Amino acid sequence: MKKTKLTFIADTHHYSRKLGDNGPAYERRSSTDQKCLAETGDIIDKAFEIIADSDTDALMIVGDLSNDGERASHEEMIEKLYKLKQKKPVYVTLATHDWCCDNNARRYDGDSVFHDVDTVKHTELREMYYDFGPRDAKAEFITHLGTSSYKIEFPNDIILLSLIDDQDGEGASGFTPDHLEWITNQIKEETEKGKLVIGMEHHLLYQHISPLFSGHGLCCGKHEMYIEKFCEAGMKFVFVGHSHMQRIDRYVSENGNTLYEINVGSLVGYPAPIVNMTVTDKQIKIDTEHLKEFMYNGEILSSEYLKAHATRLITKTLGLARHGRKEEFVKTLIEFGIGRDTAEKLRPMFSFLERFLNSTSVYTLGTVINFASFGKTFNKSDLIQLKDKKIIDIVNESFLSLLDGALTKHEEGTAYYNVVTSFVHIPNKLLKALRIKHKKANILCDELDNMIKEIVTGGAIDNNHLTLDKN
Ligand SMILES: [Fe+2]
Ligand SMILES: [Fe+2]
Repeated sequence: MKKTKLTFIADTHHYSRKLGDNGPAYERRSSTDQKCLAETGDIIDKAFEIIADSDTDALMIVGDLSNDGERASHEEMIEKLYKLKQKKPVYVTLATHDWCCDNNARRYDGDSVFHDVDTVKHTELREMYYDFGPRDAKAEFITHLGTSSYKIEFPNDIILLSLIDDQDGEGASGFTPDHLEWITNQIKEETEKGKLVIGMEHHLLYQHISPLFSGHGLCCGKHEMYIEKFCEAGMKFVFVGHSHMQRIDRYVSENGNTLYEINVGSLVGYPAPIVNMTVTDKQIKIDTEHLKEFMYNGEILSSEYLKAHATRLITKTLGLARHGRKEEFVKTLIEFGIGRDTAEKLRPMFSFLERFLNSTSVYTLGTVINFASFGKTFNKSDLIQLKDKKIIDIVNESFLSLLDGALTKHEEGTAYYNVVTSFVHIPNKLLKALRIKHKKANILCDELDNMIKEIVTGGAIDNNHLTLDKN
C-alpha cells in the first residue's frame, strides 16, 4: 500500500537569545506571552530531532518562523532548517512575523527595551528560504512584496500549495486578484488531474470558535470569498497557523464540496503540537502529537512547564496588580499594548479580580447566585461535583482548552459543562429577564454563549484527530 506522511508545525517564532534572555525587561516580555521566547531554540531542536527520526516524508512550517523578523533569529532558524534538511525535506510558508511588519522588533537588557534590532525585509525572504520551497517548486508566483507562493508535488498524487497571504493590496491579509487567480488555476488544474490538493497559508480562512476570537486579524480579510473559491476549485485540506490554537473545521461550499481547515497551534507554547497527515490509497488520517519534553539550560522541562508559562499570562498580571509595585504592573500592561493612563486606572479592578478569582470557589459563587436567582441558575449536584475548584482554575482551564482544542473535553450534560456554560449565560439571562433590547449587547451575549460551548467541548469535530475515507 502506498503511503505518504506529511508533518506540519506552525508559529515556531524562533527568538535568538542574543536579543536578551534575562533581566526585568525580558521577564516582563516573556511573562506576557502565551508562547516562549528564550526557550524556542531548544524546543525547535527537540521537535526537529523527533521529526528527523520519524517516518514522515516531509516537514511543513505554516508561517511565523521567527519571533519578529529579527535577522539574528532568522539566521539561527535557517541553520536549524539546513540541519534537518539532511534527513527530511522542509517546506515553509513565511508570514508577517518573518519580516516584522509591525516594526516592533525588540531586544532586552536589564530594565530597558531597545528597538535598534536589525530585521529582515520582505524582499529578502525568498532568497533566504529558497532551499525550503522555491528550489523544488513545480510552479511559483512572486507577490508584489517579492515573497513566494509555490507548488510542490509529493508521491501518491499529492500536491502542496504553499500560499503567502500577508497582504491583499487593500490593507488586509490575503491575496491580490492576480495571485488569487494563480491559486485557483493551480487548484483546478491539479484537481482535474485527480490529485489531492493541500493548501498551507498562515492566516485563517474559516472563522472558528467565535468571531470574538477569530474575527478581524486572525482571518484573511476576504476569507469567506477565498474559502469558497478554493473549495469549489477542489482543495480538500488547508493548514493554517497564526491563532496559536489547535482546531479542525469543515467547510462545505455552495456546490457541496468539502474543505477541512486544520489550524495548527504554536510549537513553542502549550500544547506544542506536531500534526501528522497520513495519506494511503484508502484513507486520510490526521493525528496530532505533542512535544512531551525538552532540555533548557540543562534542565528537562515538560508540557507542564508550557502550561504554566501560558497561564502565567493571566495569573502573573493579576498578581502584580494586587501584590506588586504599581510601576511594575504598569510596565507589564504596556507590554500588552495598553497605555500608561489606562493601565493605572485598571490596577484596582485587576487587584479586585485577582482576589475574587483566587479566593472564591465555584461552589460558593454558585450557591450565592442560586440564592439570588431562587435556585434557577445551577443544579446543586453539579456544584457539589466542582466543589474543589476555584474560579481561577476554570479560567485557566478554559484558556488551555482554547489552545489545545479541548484535549480534556467536557461534553454537554456533564457537571463541568453545565456550571461553566450556565455561568457565562448569566448576562444573556439578565438581558432577557429585564427585557433589554440592545442589539450589540444581545449579539455579544449570544456569542459568549456559543464561544464557551466551543471551548469546553472542542466543537463538533475532534480538533486533534481525524480519519476520512480517501474517496
Ligand atoms: Fe504567530
Ligand atoms: Fe501570525
